[in-house]
Amino acid sequence: MGVWFNFFVATFAAIGSFLFGYDSGIIGSVISPNFKQFHIYFKDPNDNTLGAVVSTFAGGCFFGAMAAGWLADRVGRKRTIQIGSLVAVFGTALQTGARNIGMLMGGRVVAGLAVGVLSMIVPLYQSEISPPHLRGFLTGMTQFMIGLGFFVANWVGYGCQYLDNDAQWRVPLGIQIIPAILLFLGMFGLPFSPRWLIEKGRNEEALAVVHLLHDNATNSEFIESEFNKMLEQIKYEKSHMSSKISDLWATKPMLKRTLTGMAVQICTQFTGINVSTYFQPSLYAALGYSGNTILLITGINGALGQVVTLVFIYFILDRVGRRLPLIVGAFGMAACLSIEAAINARFPGETSTNKSAQQAGVAFIILFGSLFFSTSFGPVSWVYQSEIFPMRIRAIGTSVSTMSNWAINVMISQISPLGLNRLGWKFYLVFICTNLANALIVIFFFPETKGKTLEEMDAVFGDQVIDHAAEANYNKKVGLDEKEESIENVENVRDVQDVERTT
Ligand SMILES: *[C@@H]1O[C@H](CO)[C@@H](O)[C@H](O)[C@H]1NC(C)=O
Repeated sequence: MGVWFNFFVATFAAIGSFLFGYDSGIIGSVISPNFKQFHIYFKDPNDNTLGAVVSTFAGGCFFGAMAAGWLADRVGRKRTIQIGSLVAVFGTALQTGARNIGMLMGGRVVAGLAVGVLSMIVPLYQSEISPPHLRGFLTGMTQFMIGLGFFVANWVGYGCQYLDNDAQWRVPLGIQIIPAILLFLGMFGLPFSPRWLIEKGRNEEALAVVHLLHDNATNSEFIESEFNKMLEQIKYEKSHMSSKISDLWATKPMLKRTLTGMAVQICTQFTGINVSTYFQPSLYAALGYSGNTILLITGINGALGQVVTLVFIYFILDRVGRRLPLIVGAFGMAACLSIEAAINARFPGETSTNKSAQQAGVAFIILFGSLFFSTSFGPVSWVYQSEIFPMRIRAIGTSVSTMSNWAINVMISQISPLGLNRLGWKFYLVFICTNLANALIVIFFFPETKGKTLEEMDAVFGDQVIDHAAEANYNKKVGLDEKEESIENVENVRDVQDVERTT
C-alpha cells in the first residue's frame, strides 16, 4: 500500500489537529456580541467572565499536553490519540448542554485537556510513522489541519449567528463532537507507531507496520535498513539509557535538544501569529475597514494560508529543510510588521483617507500570516519538536515543548488586549523585535534535520559523540583499548539482535 496509505493515516490522525483549530476558533465567535442568544442565555456575562471562558481552555491545554507525555509511552501513541478524542467528546457534551456559565467553563477545561493531549500526540505519531524523506510533509499536515479547523470554525460561526434561539451557540459548540467521534472510532483501524511497538518488544508487529506504511514493492532495501536502524537504536537506548524527566537536561546535547524543542514553540508564539489572527478584525478596523469587508478579507486570508501551507509542506519543507524557511519567515514577518507599523503610524484609519495605504496595510497583514508564517514556524514548529528527541524521551520532550507553547500562548493572550489598547500601532514594535530575535536564535542554535531518520538525530545534536567519549573514558579506566572496544560493542549489539531476529 505504501505511501498513499501512509498519507491517509497521517491525515486521518490530524483530525485531532482539526479539533485543535476548531475548538480554539469557535469560542471567539460564540462569545462575540453578534451571538445575542448566548448573552441572553447566560445573563450577560461580563468581560472578565468571558475572558475566563477563553483562558481556562488554554490552561486545560497546558495540562493536557503534560498528561500526553506520560500517556504516550504507557498506552502508546495511537491509544493516546483515542483518549484525547474521547475526552473531547465529553468536553463537547458539557459545553453543548451547558445550563450555566460554570458548566460551560467546565466543558471548556475538559475540551482544553483533550486539545492539549492531541496537540502534542498527533505530530509525534505522524513523525514516527513517516519515512524520513516525507516527514516534513506528513507531520506538517498537523498545521494544515489546525488552520482548516480554524477556518471552518469561522464560517460555522458566521452562519450560526443568524439562528435565533439556543441553537445559535449550542450548534457551533456541538459540532466538535463529529470529528471527535470520527477520530476515536477511526483510530481503531490505524496502526500503532512502529517505534513504540519496538519499544514494547513487539518487533514483528512493528515490521509489519513499516511494510504497510512504507513498502512500495521496489524499496525492500530501504525498508530493511530503516527497520534495522529503529531496532538497533531503540534497543541500544533501552539497554544503556534511562528515560526520566531529568534526562531532558542530563547531558549537554540532551539539554540542547530540550531547549531547541521549547524554543521552536516559544518562538512560534512570539511571531505574534495568534495575536494577529485573533485581533484581525480590529487590525482591519484600525486601517479603516468595517462590517462585511472585514469578514471577506479574513476569509480570503484564511483560505490563502491553507493553500500556501499545503504547497509549502509538500514541495519545499522536505527539500529545502527546516532552517532556511524559519530564517526567511522570521525576517519576512519582521519586515511585514515594520511596514504595518509605519502605515498605521502615518495613515491611521480614523483620520486618514489614503485608500492605497490602507490596502497596503491589509496586504501586509495577509503576507505576514498567509505567506511568511505558513511557510515557516506554522508547520515547522510541529515537525521540528516531534523529530529532535531520541525515542526514550521523545514523548516527555515533545510534551515539554508543547507545554511551553501553551504557557506562552496564555501569557500573550492576556497581554495582547492591553497592549493593543494602550500602545496602538506601537504594539507592532514588540513583535518586530521578537521576530528578529527568532531569526537569530534559529541561525545560531537550530541544527538542520531534513531527510535524517529519527535514529540519526543523535548525531545531529552531537549526542553520539558524548556517549562515545564517556565510553572511551570508561574503557581507559579499565585498561581497554578504546577504539577496538567500542567497535566491538557495536558489533555485540548487532550480534545479539541477529540472534534474536533468527529465533
Ligand atoms: C496559534 O499558534 C499555533 C502555534 O503555536 C498555530 O499552530 C496556530 O495555527 C495559531 N492559530 C491561529 C488561529 O493563528
